Amino acid sequence: MLYLQPVSLTDGREFYDMLQHIGAKENGFLNSAYGIPYADFPAYLTRKVDMAQGVGLEDWMVPASTFWLMSDGVPVGQGNLRHRLTDALREAGGHIGYAVASDHRGKGYGKELLRLLLEEARRMGITEEILVTVYPDNAASRRVAEANGGQLRRETEERAYYWFS
Ligand SMILES: CC(C)(COP(=O)(O)OP(=O)(O)OC[C@H]1O[C@@H](n2cnc3c(N)ncnc32)[C@H](O)[C@@H]1OP(=O)(O)O)[C@@H](O)C(=O)NCCC(=O)NCCS
Repeated sequence: MLYLQPVSLTDGREFYDMLQHIGAKENGFLNSAYGIPYADFPAYLTRKVDMAQGVGLEDWMVPASTFWLMSDGVPVGQGNLRHRLTDALREAGGHIGYAVASDHRGKGYGKELLRLLLEEARRMGITEEILVTVYPDNAASRRVAEANGGQLRRETEERAYYWFS
């Protein structure tokens, strides 16, 4: 069974290990836990929990919730859901970022991860259209967006803009 689980301060080694299978900045997805010592993982978790509650944000930041994609109790990916857009996020980043651990890719998890994040956005009360921005050459992510009904409304050399109503 696949489901989302919010990041929590008690998440342990299996979550850390999973994050070592996602690059530090893969196709624009930022993974600030990549390559850090395990001793620093609690601080990473604290930062994520704070961000979800809008605690300690810099001026340009918006609250963002982070979820694990769980497959039968095993973490296989991560998604970030920013609670609203800013002008900067409209250009790059959008509402949602997602990544699946490299050893779990190609099994349909990416598509499910975005589907669940879109559902979660509505559950959280985000009513505006949802934006996902993708590097044009990221074929897998484009398929993920298209499979979830994303409308490609704009494309530049740097990004494709998919909207979900
Ligand atoms: C993008 C990503 C989340 C896709 O995850 P995934 O679990 O492999 O995706 P799925 O298995 O659901 O596959 C989705 C589609 O992409 C296709 N696909 C998978 N890997 C692919 C590849 N390397 N090249 C082209 N298409 C690919 C699949 O065949 C599938 O297409 P289909 O609907 O025609 O069958 C994953 O590759 C990833 O984490 N990449 C690094 C981070 C990233 O790019 N995040 C997105 C930033 S916008």
